[in-house]
Amino acid sequence: MKKKLIGLLFGASLALAACGGGGDDAADGGGETAKADPETLFAQSCSGCHGGELQGGAGPELAAIGSKYSQEEIENIIANGQGTMPPKLLEGEEASAVAEWLAAKK
Ligand code: HEC
Repeated sequence: MKKKLIGLLFGASLALAACGGGGDDAADGGGETAKADPETLFAQSCSGCHGGELQGGAGPELAAIGSKYSQEEIENIIANGQGTMPPKLLEGEEASAVAEWLAAKK
């Protein structure tokens, strides 16, 4: 009986320790998620030309861009630029995240 109780307490403190660690990880991970959050990335790198609501401006409207281009094609546009749009405004995971998000705008 006593052993069981100790086991329970031990288990509980382990769980607590695991939770504490998880909390820290989540905080770190949260930072990364915010970095790869497509809306934030778009606001930082693209909205100056395409508008905060994808309504367009110096660049074309992107509100229904997903019906025109696939994620891959949008990634290509981000990587290579198009017309007066400069290339490599975003790269790697960030470019993919924004392309995926835009490709879903139909
Ligand atoms: C300096 C202004 C500028 C910035 C910043 C910019 N764009 Fe563009 N973008 C343009 C212009 C101008 C075009 C039209 C180019 C052309 O076809 O002549 C364009 C075209 C596009 C197109 C193709 C639209 C179509 O209908 O063919 C996509 C998709 C696009 N941009 C996505 C993005 C994304 C995503 C970002 C951020 C990573 C971004 N743009 C940042 C100016 C910009």
